[in-house]
Amino acid sequence: MKKGACLYEGKAKRIYSTDEHEVLWVEYKDDATAFNGEKKDVLEGKGVLNNEISSLLFSKLKEAGIQSHFIEKLSSNEQLVKRVEIVPIEVVVRNIAAGSLVKRLGIERGTEFNPAILEFYYKDDSLGDPLFTEEHIRVMELASVEELSEIREIALHVNEQLKVIFETIGVQLVDFKLEFGREQSGAILLADEISPDTCRLWDIKTGESFDKDLFRFEQGNLQDGYTTILSRLGGINSCS
Ligand code: C5P
Repeated sequence: MKKGACLYEGKAKRIYSTDEHEVLWVEYKDDATAFNGEKKDVLEGKGVLNNEISSLLFSKLKEAGIQSHFIEKLSSNEQLVKRVEIVPIEVVVRNIAAGSLVKRLGIERGTEFNPAILEFYYKDDSLGDPLFTEEHIRVMELASVEELSEIREIALHVNEQLKVIFETIGVQLVDFKLEFGREQSGAILLADEISPDTCRLWDIKTGESFDKDLFRFEQGNLQDGYTTILSRLGGINSCS
């Protein structure tokens, strides 16, 4: 497989074409951003940790019957994925109140939700990724009713699997963000990444954060938190 031109550079990843049209080459960067790009830094080793963790989690989800765009890990900070057209909706699943939900609604941090809460955000940096409803998605024609119902179903299935995966390693899955894409056939596929950049992960015993809140709120060393997640998942940090 040959790496081609850079097609897109996001906050945390670069996406390249390959000599196969349906396959893309993803490179995870060390850049850390928060608050819609207002807080920025370069944290050595972050790209490797996210690639390792995301590859592991997508593989575990595949074993549980959940397909995603992930094909294989290529190197410590690179992976191959299926080409999809990204649906511009960020799907957030919440098991425990934290972050923007607490700020927006005043619900006490740590309140448990069963069943989990599902939220949709419009993926648009210039608008600051606003929270929106299924009605907005419908009038903006971002996804059909059938697609949205499939996205919901997959998101909740992913939540059930991830909750078990993390509980097994002594970690509470507080909340997380998913993105979806359309394959050439039009089928909806789980895409992007699942890592401590996109999840809130708290130690079950101590409540310690092992996720991007370490960077957002300067609560501790991000790489240490992510390394804890990777090693508890049974992975090896190939850069340390
Ligand atoms: O900030 P908020 O509480 O809405 O975030 C909910 C979850 O979604 C968190 O785990 C956060 O890391 C993730 N998220 C993300 N990308 C965004 C917004 C939120 O990964 N653009």
